[in-house]
Amino acid sequence: MKIALIALSAALVVGAGAVSISAVSTAQQVSKAAPAVVDAYVEATFKGASDTWKGRIKQDETQRACSENKNELSTAEFQKVLAREKASVVFPADGKVIGNWKEGAKIAQNGRGGQFSDPPDTVGGGNCYACHQLSKAELSFGTMGPSLNEYGKIRRFREDEAKAAYAKIYNAQSVMPCSNMPRFGLTKALSEQQIKDVVSYLFDPESPVNK
Ligand code: HEC
Repeated sequence: MKIALIALSAALVVGAGAVSISAVSTAQQVSKAAPAVVDAYVEATFKGASDTWKGRIKQDETQRACSENKNELSTAEFQKVLAREKASVVFPADGKVIGNWKEGAKIAQNGRGGQFSDPPDTVGGGNCYACHQLSKAELSFGTMGPSLNEYGKIRRFREDEAKAAYAKIYNAQSVMPCSNMPRFGLTKALSEQQIKDVVSYLFDPESPVNK
């Protein structure tokens, strides 16, 4: 295992060298990570993982495009990914994206579900606070994503804005290809009802997000 990793990091260093040379010769060209190197690295990292976990680390077409292009897609590739991810968004059949903000608050705070230590029947959360500020009262939050405090208030609680938020949470890459935000609906990490509840947490005037 150790030897394999050393060999891999050597390959990555060689790859990085090649990348900088090509970047100098064609300034516009986006550098690429060699797919075989990426595959070997992922395989080595998750060696011995269960089949469930192996399934989860298998990249779909979009993830592969982002990995291989180091999240810097060409305009054509960007449009292709955007169209594909947009097409994946499934809105509620009745068109209503509002649920219960109190439930949404719990989902936003819950980082469980899908972890090694979680029993299989664990109801997972959205872990939104790991990356976003939401309510002013919460002191502990991550900053990888922008603050969502007063999200609905700033958008005047508009229905079309709530629908846009539903799509964003369902599949963040339907708005921004190669986003670091998980695609909660697409991956079934959150159910339709859970996404509605989280949208309400963002958009209900009574929600602490808007106070
Ligand atoms: C791993 C980090 C991460 C998690 C977890 C995460 N997000 Fe995000 N989110 C981001 C990043 C990064 C952005 C900015 C880039 C983008 O728009 O995709 C973002 C953007 C957004 C936006 C758009 C903000 C705007 O500019 O209008 C919304 C809405 C949002 N997130 C809601 C949520 C909700 C709700 C949850 C929980 C269900 C959540 N996010 C979980 C990282 C995350």
